[in-house]
Amino acid sequence: MSAHKIIIAIDGFSSCGKSTLAKQLAAKLGYNYIDSGAMYRAITLYFLRHSVHISDHEQVLKALDNIHLSFVFNEKREQSDIYLNDENVEPYIRDLIVAEKVSEVAAIKEVRTFAVGQQQKMGQKKGIVMDGRDIGTVVFPDAELKIFMTAEPDVRVMRRYDELAASNPGITIEEVRHNLELRDYIDSNREESPLRKADDAIMLDNSNLNKEEQLEKVLEWVKDKATNIVAGNIP
Ligand code: DC
Repeated sequence: MSAHKIIIAIDGFSSCGKSTLAKQLAAKLGYNYIDSGAMYRAITLYFLRHSVHISDHEQVLKALDNIHLSFVFNEKREQSDIYLNDENVEPYIRDLIVAEKVSEVAAIKEVRTFAVGQQQKMGQKKGIVMDGRDIGTVVFPDAELKIFMTAEPDVRVMRRYDELAASNPGITIEEVRHNLELRDYIDSNREESPLRKADDAIMLDNSNLNKEEQLEKVLEWVKDKATNIVAGNIP
């Protein structure tokens, strides 16, 4: 498409298909895809493994000092794996035990400062698609294209259930629903960078769109933005 690389910020509730879209876009445009949620999940995994008390400020700061996160492209998955202190923790960060704790960890101010700083560095050269909860509002407020994704709750529950069932045998739909509702509530109501649509984000409800239709729609938006940049309409 265009040689003018932009930043694409995708935000929305859990299990709206943000990562699927982000990954497709990155592949199509030759951009980097960064899953910012993976960073909060990896931090949560570290906290769980080291029994960090999240209400203990000193313990949280000390733990963050000992955490190094990096992304390494995995050819097989066609997306980057997240490394926690040089260990590929991709296989562990989607477990329910992490999912149950991650919203609380992501609500901690110091954790957000730590993650956001790294995310902003990754976007310095543009040509990046990042998904999360605060990408268009806090991480890249000047992103050229911002998308806010939603889907009907039942659609989201079934998507997450299908994703989790393979690696979490015995998990029930009700457990998945409860976890999603709780995370949405915490993510939207926390004091630090709550999930909200940026004023200039485009709303995308994909309840009734398949992946191809969705990609086609968003590629049109990318084309519009890139054309505007070439024409000098966007700062
Ligand atoms: O996208 P995900 O479900 O993997 O995100 C895991 C958690 O991390 C989610 O409950 C909210 C939090 N998160 C966040 O607060 N800010 C982001 N930019 C990304 C994720």
